[in-house]
Order: sequence, then structure tokens, then C-alpha cells
Amino acid sequence: MKKHDPISPLFPHFIYGGDYNPDQWLDTPGIIDEDMRLMKLSHCNTMTLGIFSWVRLEPEDGKYDFSYLDNMIAKIAENGGKVILSTPSGSKPAWMSEKYPEILRTTEKQQKRLHGGRHDHCLTSPVYRRKVREMNERLAERYGGNDAVIAWHISNEYGGECHCELCQGAFREWLKKKYGGSLDELNKAYWASFWSHTFTSWSQLHSPSSIGENRIHGLSIDWARFVSDQTIDFMKNEIKALRKYSDKPVTTNFMRFYSGIDYRKMAKELDVVSWDSYPHWHQNDEGDEYAGVAFDHDIFRSYKSKPFLLMESTPSLPNWHDINKLKRPGVNRLGALQAVAHGADSVQYFQFRKSRGCSEKFHGAIVDHCGHENTRVFREVAELGKTLEGLDEVLGSVTESETAFLYELDNRLLIDTAQGFNLKDKKYRETCVRHYRPFWNRGINVDVRGYEEDFSKYKLIIAPMMYMVTDALIEKIERFVREGGIFVTTYMAGMVDENDLCRLGGFPGGKLKEVFGIWNEEIDSLYPQDTNLVRIGEKEYTAVDYCEIIHAEGAQVLGTYEKDFYAGCPALCCNSYGKGKAYYIAFRDKGEMLDDLYDGIIREAGIKRSLDGTLGEGVVSHSRTDGETDFVFVGNYRASGSYFETNKEYTDMESGEKVLGRREMKPYESVILKLKR
Ligand code: GLA
Ligand code: ZN
Repeated sequence: MKKHDPISPLFPHFIYGGDYNPDQWLDTPGIIDEDMRLMKLSHCNTMTLGIFSWVRLEPEDGKYDFSYLDNMIAKIAENGGKVILSTPSGSKPAWMSEKYPEILRTTEKQQKRLHGGRHDHCLTSPVYRRKVREMNERLAERYGGNDAVIAWHISNEYGGECHCELCQGAFREWLKKKYGGSLDELNKAYWASFWSHTFTSWSQLHSPSSIGENRIHGLSIDWARFVSDQTIDFMKNEIKALRKYSDKPVTTNFMRFYSGIDYRKMAKELDVVSWDSYPHWHQNDEGDEYAGVAFDHDIFRSYKSKPFLLMESTPSLPNWHDINKLKRPGVNRLGALQAVAHGADSVQYFQFRKSRGCSEKFHGAIVDHCGHENTRVFREVAELGKTLEGLDEVLGSVTESETAFLYELDNRLLIDTAQGFNLKDKKYRETCVRHYRPFWNRGINVDVRGYEEDFSKYKLIIAPMMYMVTDALIEKIERFVREGGIFVTTYMAGMVDENDLCRLGGFPGGKLKEVFGIWNEEIDSLYPQDTNLVRIGEKEYTAVDYCEIIHAEGAQVLGTYEKDFYAGCPALCCNSYGKGKAYYIAFRDKGEMLDDLYDGIIREAGIKRSLDGTLGEGVVSHSRTDGETDFVFVGNYRASGSYFETNKEYTDMESGEKVLGRREMKPYESVILKLKR
């Protein structure tokens, strides 16, 4: 059996519910009882409480009052629900900012921020850390033994940075530690003789700023690493306080493709990863956005290689996109089951009851301003709740993948800071999703790995825009290919090391030239109106944005440019190295070439698909397994009908019907199948 334990032994079922902010409603008579009725009616089983409750729990410094939480937890428990209890550090009371101004954030321009919004606290301030500790200890002491509470939700969407003197001091200490107290080492790593930027005392080091130092990329990346470490340290302070009285699982909610925290590192401190998913549904029904969310799910699941929680999503629409479009009927279920397909053991919403005032009053919620259950959204939520109640078997099951994408935050940050290429937008995420799309289309499970993680179980590893490579990574890639793996990379590969210093002796750096059998002499960045053509076999593809001029030095040339002064030069190469193969894609295409290329590689490597059968246009599938049974989630992401066809007899987990052969799919329809191995 390949199965993980449920996230909490107190609730071995799919967690279903969402953020619940009853503290906004305590003056409204009868509303809490009504919420309890609606909670049951919506088949929600878990409420996340206390995220923004600090002022209610500690109305003045040192004066605590937990009666509201006591009542709410008791009420939810009486009604058969469970609670994920939050620590309130994401939003502090005004009295605290007034009394301890040091806790307020300072911007990169050295402007002290005023109290307001949320996430507006310094990550270093000893006072704030103490206040958080004191609050968390009390929460853990009071509710750690309460069986209604199944997990801790630490803070809320950690993010941002503070540039105050306390943080500058902590940054200097961090630097001293990293460079073994040697300014000389730091100056070397930063290539600081550039523009006479050599540091001669630690006190000269400051966080990067748009009105100060921002040209030393080594410093910028170190600051980003420091902010991430400081945030993780802040979180550890929170967890330590809880751990004094409680061993319940801890999580904090991550954000989509957020670059301010190294989530892979943060995940190590958590029992379970959770994240908040708000895709732009229907922005284009062509699929890149949907494939993008799938990629996000894979990133978050891969951090701990086990099921995660979908902590937030909207049942209908968000309020902070530029255009807040409603999810079409069926799409809430489609998106929720997509999360489950990729490894989520929960479906949670923001939020249960829609706020009456302030900035989130038009954000979708399970219970709308009308106050009753007779809405499309409520009905869809309740239906899905029933479905999830029937999926206990799936809980804890794992994702089996033979393909991995490499995604390392440092690489992405360095791509973003690189001055050159297309200055404004290197399109890193878009590129990853473009490479991911052929796998998504074919219903192939994918993992996402960091540079230091194990490669050995994969047949195929894909590293789009692998700009930064460490010496250790070069070694790993070499071994992976030599031992029989297939590795794919693109233009911009192997250009710099972890300090953003260029690799000398030709790109891609070090042994990668041998592994890929190529040398990259120049990179041409194209204007938006420019294109080139690449011929591969009988087909011609359009190259956009980037064309590298590479030389094949041992690799087989699969495609060549057709235009410009580099016409005839290689654009796509494959090198047989040891027992494996290394592909180098020297240009960016819009996706068509990638689809054809990966189609060939998938066949050649014999990479398994999640459904034994065929998927119609717009229909995709993903699977989990407990080692004995495969659970396959099939969804139609198109506004028009489509189909899938199976070669084996699957069972529809909701209707119990057998599914063999062709099955029509309505617009946005999703089905859950299972098959005994
Ligand atoms: C985030 C927050 C929530 C809420 C939602 C709205 O994910 O965690 O508190 O503001 O956004 O989409
Ligand atoms: Zn600070």
C-alpha cells in the first residue's frame, strides 16, 4: 500500500470547508446558529478560524479573552464540524502598532509604514516575536487538547519584507555567517570591484534599494535568501510556541508561484503543505491557465512528496483579479477535483460567509449576501461536499511520476534580476508552463524537483531556462544522463553560478557542454515583431523571443534556423551521452515544437499515462494510487463537449457504473474513475 496517514488522525476524511470569520458577525443576532445550519447543509466539515482574530483575543496589551473562540469551537464541534485553528500574526491590532512602533515595516526606500492592511509587521522585531509567542502559547495551551481542532494554520500567507534597522542588523549577521566573517570572500562573490563597489566594513552593507544599491546581483540574491530565511525563522518561533503544548500538525498557506520565500525550505518545517489557489478561470479556454494551476499543484505536492491541503479557493469569483469572472457551472468542481487529482486531501474555500464591508465584500463565498442556501454557488458547493464524502479511499494516496521538472527559486530569481535578454519579461513561468503543457494534455503525472533533490527515480527531467547551475547540479545532471536518463534544457542554460557570476569557458558551463554536446556562442533576443523559422524534419516552426547560436560538438542536429545570419545553424540538438540522452533547445517556440518533441520523447522513453486510453480535445486526466487501486480524475476543460475512451474497465466512483470504451464529456464535466491494478 502506498498511502500516507490522514493529515489528522482526528479526521480521516477529505477536509472540506473554508475560512470562517464569525468575528465580523457577532453583533448580528442568530447568525452563528444560521451558519451552523448552513455548514451542515453545504456538507462542509471543517472551518478555519482565528486568522484575523487578534484584536478580539487580545483587546489590550496582555489582556486576553478567548470566550469568542471557546464558543465558536464548541458550536462547530456540536454541529459535527472540525476546526483548523489559525495563529493571528498575519494581522496585528492597531493598539499594538501604536504602543510598539518598532513592529511596523520599513520599505526599501526607508519609509516607515503606517499601521494598516495586513502583513505589515517586521520579521525581526523582538517585541513582535514575543507578542506572537505569547499569543500562540495561550492558543496551544487552551486548544491543543481539544479534539475539534485538527491542525494549526500558522499565520496567513507569509510574505513581503522589512528594511528597518533591526532587519539590516540581522542581514549583516546573516552575511557574516555565510561568508565566514570574511569581507574579502563577500567582495569576491559579489564581483564588487565593479563600479568601485568594494565593501570595506560590514556596516556599509544594506538591503538592496531602488534608491541605493541594486546593481550587485549577488547582494540582491543574498537579500532574497535572507528574507526567506528570516520569514522561516519567524515561523519557527510561532511553531515552537505551539509545540510547548500541542503536537497537532502545522501548516501555513503558500501562494501561487510566490518568489519571496523559498517554500521548499519552509516546507521542511511544516507537517503538511497547503496553498491558496485563485486561477484566472476562463481567461482563455485554450488551457495554459489550467495547465498552470496543475503545475502549481505539482510544485506544492512535490515539496513533501505527499498529499497537501488546498487551503483556499473561491467557490465562484475572487475580488482582486483585474476582471473577476464567475466560474461557469461545473467549474468549481472541476478545479477542486483537479487539486485532488494532483494530491490535495482537502478542498477549502475563502470564505464561508461573505463579508458585509471592506475590501472583500464582493469576493465569492459559500454563503452570499442574500443569506440563504438557494443559490447556484451554494448548491454546487454542497454537491461537491457529498462527492468528497465518498472519496475516503483516495485519501493519503500518492502520485507516481516518471517525469520531473526542475524548479529552483534561486534560478528564477536570478533570471528575473538578470540585466539583458528581454529586460522586462523573461517569461520564465510561462516557459515552464509551455513545457509542462504537453504532459498535461496527455494526462501524464509530473513531479517538480529542486536542484538538491533526488533525480534517480525519473526517466525524464526537464529544466527550462536553467540559467543558474551549481557545480553540484552539473555533476548530478552528468550522472543522471550517463546512467540512462533523458534530460532536456533550453536556451540560457548554465550561464551563471549561485552567486550570479558567469561561468567561464563557454556556455553551458563546465561539463554541461560535453553532456549536451554543444557550445552556445551567442544569444539573440528578438523584438516582439521578429521571428525566425526552424526546420525540424519535414516541419517548420516559428521561433520567438530567443534564438541562441550554438555549435554542435558531438550532438546530433535535429533542427536548424532558416533565416537571418545564423541560417543553417543548429536550433535543436540531441546528444547521446553514456546510456542517456541530453536535448538542447536553442530557441523559444510558441508550443507547437515542444508538443511534437515531447510526444516523441514520451513514446521513446515509454512514459506512462494516467489513463489507459485516449483523451479527446480539452480533456485531461491525472491519477493517484494506493499501490493496489488507481484513482483517475478526468476533466473536460473546454466550454464544448468532448470525450475520452478507455481500454480497460474502470469504475465511476460516484455512480458505480462501469466505464469501458468511449465516454462523452459535457462542457467542464469531471469524473472520478478507479481501476484495480
Ligand atoms: C488570500 C487570503 C485570504 C483572502 C483571499 C482572497 O488568499 O489568505 O485572507 O484575502 O486571499 O482571495
Ligand atoms: Zn524590520
